[in-house]
Parts: sequence; structure tokens; C-alpha cells
Amino acid sequence: MDQPSPSLPGDDRPSTGSRELWGTRWGFVLAAVGSAVGLGNMWRFSYIAAEGGGAAFLMVYIVMVALIGIPLMLCELAVGRNTHLSPIGALRRLGGRGWVPLGFLFVAAGFLILSYYSVIAGWTFRYALEGIVFGFPSDPGAHFEGLASGGTAIGFHLVFMVLTIGIVMVGIQKGIERAALILMPTLFLIVLGLAIWAMTLEGAAEGYAFYLRPDVGELMNPTVIRQAAAQAFFSLSLGMGAMLTYASYLSRDTDLNEEAVTISFADFMVAFVAGMVVFPVIFALGLQDAVSESTVGALFISLPGAFQEMGGVGRFVGILFFVALAVGAITSALSLLEVVTSSIIDEFGFLRRNAAVAMGVLIALFGLLSAVSLDVLGLVDQVAGDLFLVLGALGLSIFVGWFMKVNPATELARGARPGLVRVIPAVLFLVRFVLPPVIAVVLLFSIRDAWDAFGAFFAGG
Ligand code: PHE
Repeated sequence: MDQPSPSLPGDDRPSTGSRELWGTRWGFVLAAVGSAVGLGNMWRFSYIAAEGGGAAFLMVYIVMVALIGIPLMLCELAVGRNTHLSPIGALRRLGGRGWVPLGFLFVAAGFLILSYYSVIAGWTFRYALEGIVFGFPSDPGAHFEGLASGGTAIGFHLVFMVLTIGIVMVGIQKGIERAALILMPTLFLIVLGLAIWAMTLEGAAEGYAFYLRPDVGELMNPTVIRQAAAQAFFSLSLGMGAMLTYASYLSRDTDLNEEAVTISFADFMVAFVAGMVVFPVIFALGLQDAVSESTVGALFISLPGAFQEMGGVGRFVGILFFVALAVGAITSALSLLEVVTSSIIDEFGFLRRNAAVAMGVLIALFGLLSAVSLDVLGLVDQVAGDLFLVLGALGLSIFVGWFMKVNPATELARGARPGLVRVIPAVLFLVRFVLPPVIAVVLLFSIRDAWDAFGAFFAGG
């Protein structure tokens, strides 16, 4: 617990016992943005947006992020920073034993999401490497089928897990923070550069129009609304304790409110700009039909096909695109493994190195199931990446709004700028009265869709 800090002159960070802290403010922000920005921004977002009514979806999504996502992120940040503990311990400290299962749900979600996330990340590594060595394939559909599951998929999945474990093992400042400080600016530059290049393509206007065409009819579609909410949680890494865990390494003087807005804004911008790359490229080559065929179709079939047809420039751009995806994937994977690792450290007193390796290996082994079957991958995504996050988000909003032993407003006000202190009551109102009912409705639809997915899975396999 907090002891007087053995501080150096000018170091006003309060002590958090032996817990490591982020080295710099930007270190934390970029690590959190790194967690948020990932495959979700490029793989899931553009697909769901195009399917869910273009600009109409964007509007629903922005409202979800502002009214649900940011308040929920503030809940996670407040709980993490207040306790300086990973999710299970934090919920036990602030809520008592009854809330421990919610912490376990978070850890389970982190475990399961990383298990298939790593398989998809492996594909991006494979494409980046392939682009560099051989160029992109001329029959992208068959090509993808060949590499999505089985031997190659397993190989790249394992490589990705080894890298993730290697960084998490090293610790917060030297591992996760350093990786984020190098990788995130690189990713921003690549995505921005690609968007500028995409503006020059011939199909750009049609691509934007397809992406942003407002289909207001979709606003009434409960599936679209559920998907917008679930996508907001997934993309902002909420509902499973990733932000909570990262905030547990924060000192007391950071303005959580400001950070939550920065992180959410950055995450949205990357997703939005990534769409400004994906659609012009697809339309430049008239590949739009392939987009709606599957979630993976746009990214791993249409795009490589388009890059191939564009010749030398396409190859160069394609390599950059898949490198950016791989970078986004790894910084997100770090946070997924960190939730599990830090829980094992806090709960069982493991050394970081041992915890990261032991859990990473278990996750990698479980991920083999997703690496051999796309059906399993889809099912685990539906259950953990959608249902668990919604359930976790519901639990957390009820906990922070109604049951937590410390007043969340006090924690949010600590270190906050005066202007932002004034919005805290509004945030708390949302957390108490708006989040639980809205997320509960979303949960009902998520349960229904997960149920259907199970049915389809067992009927099909
Ligand atoms: N936010 C990440 C993405 O968009 C995925 C993720 C979910 C990471 C939950 C951590 C926790 O790809």
C-alpha cells in the first residue's frame, strides 16, 4: 500500500509500493492507444460500417463512443488507478469478494480474445512478409484459404505469441511502454500516408461514397445498434480490464478525463482514416462485391488482390498496409496478455517473467483451435470478443455506479483540470442511469446472436 515515496528531487510521483509505473505521460497514452488501435479498427470497423449503413453507422458509433465508451473507459481508469491492482484484486478491494467473478470474467475474456486475435495477427505478418519477399498473390481468394488455417497459420500464430510474450515479460516501462513509443507513431504515419495516397486513386470518390453513404434505415436496425456498441467496446479495449490494468500503473497526478478523451479520439480517427484507405482501394478495382462476403474478405482477400493488380506501387503500399496492421495487432495483444499476466502476478505472486511465459504458452496452445478452424475462430470472436465484453461492460458500469466503496467522482477529480471536473457529475449520471439499461439491451441481442452462432457452429460442424 502507499508508503512515503523514496522520491528523487523533482519526482513527485507517489509511491505505489513495488508496482512499476509508466515512465512518462505519453508512454501511458500511447500504450493505451496501442491497446485500442488494432485489428478492430481496420478489420472489423470498415466492414461493419459498410454493412451497417455507412455514415448512419458512423453516427451511431460516435454517439456510442461518446455516451457509453468514454464513461466506461473512465470507470476502468478510475478503478485501476485507485487500487493500483489488476482487475481481480481491484474488484475485491473496492467491492468485496462478491465482485471477484467479474474479475475472472475479464481475465477469461483477455485469454480467449488473444487466442484468436493472435491467429489473425499471424495472417497480417504473413502478408507483410510475403509482400516483401514475393509480392501479393494473383488469386487472393484461394491464397487466403490456403494460409488462413493449418500449418502456416499455426506457425505465424506462434511467432506472434512469442513476440507478445517477449515484450510483456520485460515489464511496463522497458517492454510495453517502449514498444508503444516506437510503434504507435509509426502506425499513425503509415495510415495517414496511405489515406493521402488513396485520395489519388480513380475509385476514391465511389469508395468514399460507399463507405459514408448514409443509409438512415439502418439506424432502426437493432443488429446495427448492437454491433456499434459491441464494436465500441472491442475497439476501445473495454469490458475486460485492459484499460483498468494499464491505469493501475498510473501515478495519482494524471488527468484521467483528458486521457480518456484522447485515447477514444485517437482510436476513432485511426478507424475512420483506415476506412478512407480500404474503400478507395477496393473501388479502384471494382472489388466491392467481395466485401460483403465475410468479415475477413475485405481485408485479407480484396485488398491483397487490389495491391497485386496495382503493380509495383501496389506492392509497396500493400506492404506498408500490412505492416501497419501487424503493428496495431501487437500493441493490442500486449494489453490482452498484460491483463492475464498482471492478474497472475497479483493473485499468485508469480514473477512477471514466469507469469507472462506460462499464460502466453497456454493462450498460444488454446489458439491452435482457431488456427486450424475458421469456424472456431469466428465462434470465439462472437463469444469473447462480443458477448463477454458486453457482459463485462455491464458488470463494470453497475459496479462503479452503484457498489464501489470509493466514490468514483473523487478518483476522477484527482489530478483533473478544473474545466473537466465540472463534467464529472454528468459522467456519473451516465454511468448510473444510462449505461446499465442500454448495455443490458445490447446484451440481450448479443446473447441471441451468440446463441445463433453456437447453433450454426454445431449444425455445420
Ligand atoms: N482494441 C483492440 C482492437 O481494436 C482489441 C482489444 C480488445 C484489445 C480488448 C484489448 C482488449 O483491435
